[in-house]
Amino acid sequence: AHQRRSYHDNIVEHYENPRNVGSMDKKDKFVGTGLVGAPACGDVMKLQIKVDENGVITESKFKTFGCGSAIASSSVATEWLKGRSVDESLKIKNTDIAGHLKLPPVKLHCSMLAEDAIKAAIKDLQDKGAVAKPAQHALA
Ligand code: FES
Ligand code: FES
Repeated sequence: AHQRRSYHDNIVEHYENPRNVGSMDKKDKFVGTGLVGAPACGDVMKLQIKVDENGVITESKFKTFGCGSAIASSSVATEWLKGRSVDESLKIKNTDIAGHLKLPPVKLHCSMLAEDAIKAAIKDLQDKGAVAKPAQHALA
């Protein structure tokens, strides 16, 4: 992810110009949709990923009804997701996103929303049979 820094080294950019805002057809077998909410504040995030036949993410979109940190977190997540396999996507942690955006502790749950949304989108793809269920060792 860090090699992408040259494209937009100013993280403030994610607040002012969030990337990949939008929607994809959730009925498409190769589109996984994750819809999650933060109980603490009521904010809601929808994150979608599209995979090719090899399970590589070709596109990612989000719509977040929430605070600026949640919007910026989903923007970073969609940037990081593109080009990754499903397994690699599961390695994106909220702490990485929070660190990247330099979120203060009270805003950590906003980046958690992004991690939860990624997991939910991948689960949707697994449920649809677009990608394989994780192997047992992948959970370790
Ligand atoms: Fe790193 Fe955009 S600033 S993903
Ligand atoms: Fe709740 Fe940011 S304040 S998602």
